[in-house]
Amino acid sequence: MPADTFVTKLNEQIGNEFAAHQQYVACAVYYDAETLPQLARFFYRQALEERDHAMMMVQYLIDADADVVIPGVAAPQPSFGDIVEPVTLALEQEKRVTEQINGLAATAREAGDYTSEQFMQWFIKEQVEEVATMSDLLRVVERSKDDPMEIENFMAREHPGGESEDPTAPHPAGSA
Ligand SMILES: [Fe+2]
Ligand SMILES: [Fe+2]
Repeated sequence: MPADTFVTKLNEQIGNEFAAHQQYVACAVYYDAETLPQLARFFYRQALEERDHAMMMVQYLIDADADVVIPGVAAPQPSFGDIVEPVTLALEQEKRVTEQINGLAATAREAGDYTSEQFMQWFIKEQVEEVATMSDLLRVVERSKDDPMEIENFMAREHPGGESEDPTAPHPAGSA
């Protein structure tokens, strides 16, 4: 059985990941309304990744025979002043999640729950990538905010989607 302190925190993190999902859907909808389909597509896809993170945590708890309590989430920020703001918010969110993930690994270690600490390793690596991706994107949108087509071209070129599956990723509950 995973440590109780870890289980409590991981259930909270499931809520944080679902909240990130909702926030990224809100960002995608904003870009869709601004007719920036490449940015919209990027955020719709990021949203799905956040959902997967939540469901990976659900699967871990199920496999470990621990309690899963699916939490409600606070409403996301629904509107934005300009096309830079959603990316600024996304980068802050990813930095915050990185701290949460590191905190989860620390909680597991302190409890001597090395299986759970090991489970968090993939998320630690994932956060490094997500913070790097959002920092890059923030630089691009800040530089080109007066020329959104420049950003759209960048997204189409650098984030075309259809990224290959990561075979080391934990299994999300309910997925094939
Ligand atoms: Fe996540
Ligand atoms: Fe993320």
